[in-house]
Amino acid sequence: MPDKVTIHTLKKLKQAGQKICMVTAYDATFGRILDDAQADVILVGDSLGMVIQGHDSTLPVTMDQMVYHSRAVTRAVKRAHVVGDLPFMSYQGPWEEAVKNAGRLVSEGGVGSVKLEGGEEFCDVISRIVRASVPVMGHLGLTPQSVHKMGGYVVQGKDEQQARKIMQDAVALERAGCYALVLEGVPLELAQQITQRLSIPTIGIGAGLHCDGQVLVCYDLLGMNPDFKPKFVKRYADLYGQIKGAAEAFFAEVRTEAFPDEAHSFKSKTIRLVASNPEVPPAVPAVPDDDKAATEGEKVQIYGVPV
Ligand code: KIV
Repeated sequence: MPDKVTIHTLKKLKQAGQKICMVTAYDATFGRILDDAQADVILVGDSLGMVIQGHDSTLPVTMDQMVYHSRAVTRAVKRAHVVGDLPFMSYQGPWEEAVKNAGRLVSEGGVGSVKLEGGEEFCDVISRIVRASVPVMGHLGLTPQSVHKMGGYVVQGKDEQQARKIMQDAVALERAGCYALVLEGVPLELAQQITQRLSIPTIGIGAGLHCDGQVLVCYDLLGMNPDFKPKFVKRYADLYGQIKGAAEAFFAEVRTEAFPDEAHSFKSKTIRLVASNPEVPPAVPAVPDDDKAATEGEKVQIYGVPV
């Protein structure tokens, strides 16, 4: 069993000047691969509303959906710290509801902490969730759940006034008990100053190189969508091309009857007669005592279940 990454590990990584690697995952298969690749933190992000569900924002994502995807990921992840996003309107109302929803992600979803978007105005709710023993990761800058307030997905903190507000929010979130902070879509100079000012780790996405760690949406870094090329994303693979190529090869072999061949087919030692006349039922062959596969059933793995 590998050493589990905890919120305390992340603080130690910051203190040691070692970068924190965070990535999103939404299901068990990706959770397992990214865990095996030594992610420190795996985020079950509400970005799933866009990359899994096909919406144009994260706003339609529900608590039940976050619990469902969190559970799938945490079933597979052994080492990384798993964070679950609190979706839009799951923590903006009465604090009792926010605490209950954070608790659901832990008890039903199996995550080790939750993430929520917003500044000073959420300090009360953050400290109440933390008091309920659920660690909270903050999220400032370009906060996708505020898409309508921001007037679109707009880089934040580019002028002095906005930058001061984000710095003030960052300090307030640390005081309220956040154990880490995502900085999204902000100038690298601002992210650098926040990172120096806080003792909790900052994790950047479109926030430059000075943050204590980096996060990307897994589908973006893997190149799953050829039409999505924002400045802050670097593609480390062309999975769109590879997946499409593999599927095309499969379809071609099905159409030419090259697949399945004998090596990919099951066989029976006991079936000897096949009725040539459908009116006449075939003779039932005797089952030899030693043919275990025939008597007990041949066990196979299906669907590449990873865990
Ligand atoms: O929902 C998400 O995936 C996120 C990350 C991009 C930080 O919040």
